[in-house]
Amino acid sequence: MEGLIIMKGEPGIGKTSVARLSSRRLAALLGNIVVVHINCRTYRTPTSVIQRIASSLMPELPDRGLSYEEMVLILEKILSKKKEDLLVILDEVEYLRDGDSLVYTLLRLHEGEAPKSPTLVTIARWDPPYLMDDAIKSFVITKLLLDKYTPEQLKTIVRYRAEEALVEGSYDDDTIGKVVELSEHTGNARVSLKILYLAAKLSEEAGLSKITLDMVSEAASRIGVIGITEDALMPLDLHDKLLLLAAAKRLSSMDKSWMKMGDLLEEYRLLCEEVGVLPYKYTAVWKRVRGLKNIGFLETKKSGEGMKGQTTLISLGSIPADKLRTKLKEILEEELSPLPSSL
Ligand SMILES: Nc1ncnc2c1ncn2[C@@H]1O[C@H](COP(=O)(O)OP(=O)(O)OP(=O)(O)O)[C@@H](O)[C@H]1O
Ligand SMILES: [Mg+2]
Repeated sequence: MEGLIIMKGEPGIGKTSVARLSSRRLAALLGNIVVVHINCRTYRTPTSVIQRIASSLMPELPDRGLSYEEMVLILEKILSKKKEDLLVILDEVEYLRDGDSLVYTLLRLHEGEAPKSPTLVTIARWDPPYLMDDAIKSFVITKLLLDKYTPEQLKTIVRYRAEEALVEGSYDDDTIGKVVELSEHTGNARVSLKILYLAAKLSEEAGLSKITLDMVSEAASRIGVIGITEDALMPLDLHDKLLLLAAAKRLSSMDKSWMKMGDLLEEYRLLCEEVGVLPYKYTAVWKRVRGLKNIGFLETKKSGEGMKGQTTLISLGSIPADKLRTKLKEILEEELSPLPSSL
């Protein structure tokens, strides 16, 4: 099957794992496939990628600092002698320089001496624009968009890894539940597993035979995961909560990840009016935005070109706006009951 398979999805959702496992299974099933997995964060140029493919097919190949063209010719030669088909996985392809030229060359190897072109799988967190070029588009076999892990899936993964790595009795369902509770909004298995391992390490260092829930929270905060749990949100003062709710409201209704500072201010003032408190002025709001940024709830950047004048843009980073909105609404309802239903 010659052509290009594009795999895409957010960090830590198992793209690399799925590609490794399924290519290994495919190779075991078919028997006549060689799989080469290349991480483009390590091999960033077309020449180094081709060199890497060639040397994994022919380990004795000397590394003589050849040019790109020479390397391609060598690869073609090697392929013309191989009986097996080639499957190349280019992982983290967004790091690749001149990826278009490399992808195009690989997909058209059969036009040279190679009997067949490899099957190519690219993995990225977002689509590199050149993969959308017409010349490359015609090679696309399929596009796979992987979703974030659901809380249930994260639980299964964390439980499985805990069984593998931790002493029996050092954790229980509550430990796993807490790890997932603090990381489920990211949908990122790497984050959940980091929390688990750090919590285990901290508990061990403290001489505990069991991971406590406090240690799990401590681990999450050291890793810098902002949970949208009551624990994390309750301590914020009313106006910080209102500002976050304003951002979450606006961003979830626009379905965008960045909003203008002016829009945040407007939304915040409306909210203050609805709940009957006096809004802070611009400078004070700005200070609060910086404070919320420092503790990881908000991200800011300057607007780029294409917008009139420079303005600050605000985002919730990896925190999902709709979930934050629901949670804050619940908390504020309790704090300010009765709260207008329009919130
Ligand atoms: N189904 C699973 N079972 C067990 N562990 C898993 C599973 N899925 C992912 N993991 C673990 O979660 C971590 C992240 O997975 P992986 O590296 O595959 O994600 P990714 O989507 O490639 O992330 P990135 O975008 O950062 O490259 C790894 O440590 C991996 O071992
Ligand atoms: Mg990966």
